[in-house]
Amino acid sequence: MKIIAVNGSPRRNGNTAELIENALAGARNNGAETKRVDLYAMDYKGCVSCFYCKRKDRPHGVCALSDALSPLLSELKEADAVIFGSPIYYDNITSGMAAFLERFLFSNYIYSEEIPTVFPKAIPTGFIYDMNITMEQAQRVHLESNLEKYRRSITEVLGLAPEVLCVYDTWQFPDYSKYESSIFSAEEKRRRREEHFPLDCRAAYNLGVQLAERAPKTR
Ligand SMILES: Cc1cc2nc3c(=O)[nH]c(=O)nc-3n(C[C@H](O)[C@H](O)[C@H](O)COP(=O)(O)O)c2cc1C
Repeated sequence: MKIIAVNGSPRRNGNTAELIENALAGARNNGAETKRVDLYAMDYKGCVSCFYCKRKDRPHGVCALSDALSPLLSELKEADAVIFGSPIYYDNITSGMAAFLERFLFSNYIYSEEIPTVFPKAIPTGFIYDMNITMEQAQRVHLESNLEKYRRSITEVLGLAPEVLCVYDTWQFPDYSKYESSIFSAEEKRRRREEHFPLDCRAAYNLGVQLAERAPKTR
């Protein structure tokens, strides 16, 4: 069973990466072979709307763009579960994750009620979102409804609704005194990091365990 995690944060050792690593550890401890891909280490573009993936005279589900994302798009077709991770930027996923999802989801989506997806099998997925704001602030900006489109598209293309893990009030810099950041209490941020982030990591671990349990055992 192979589980691939896609890190949509530019920080390779940031909050998103740490949460993803915990999820992958949970998956590995339940028999999965795992791989993490850092999108910001790759050179690629979003969908260019060529519609090659939907041509009647071509195999469906193949993205015509050829760049660093191409091997990943092929490899994902072999995955038994996928974990997506993105920090929240301006109340949305990062542009790197959005460009990746355009390519991944749209190339497997067909404008047809009979075959809405050409992704090879239904697989469980998890989406980890981490952000600076608190849960109450996220509710106030209607973050959940902003992210609903990703839940819907992933469900449509990959066949199952993603398990969502939201991580709030994250630690942005190791030393708050070095940055203009007077709207935050450095002490509160440190406490949250020390006391709550380990619980978030545990929740991510459990997400990985659950995905490994639900993943189709193809090999
Ligand atoms: C350009 C930019 C925009 C951001 N916008 C938001 C936002 O709208 N809401 C929020 O809660 N956090 C926002 N953040 C903070 C990050 O989401 C948060 O620190 C996250 O945990 C960073 O993850 P990382 O450590 O993996 O980079 C923003 C950060 C950056 C760099």
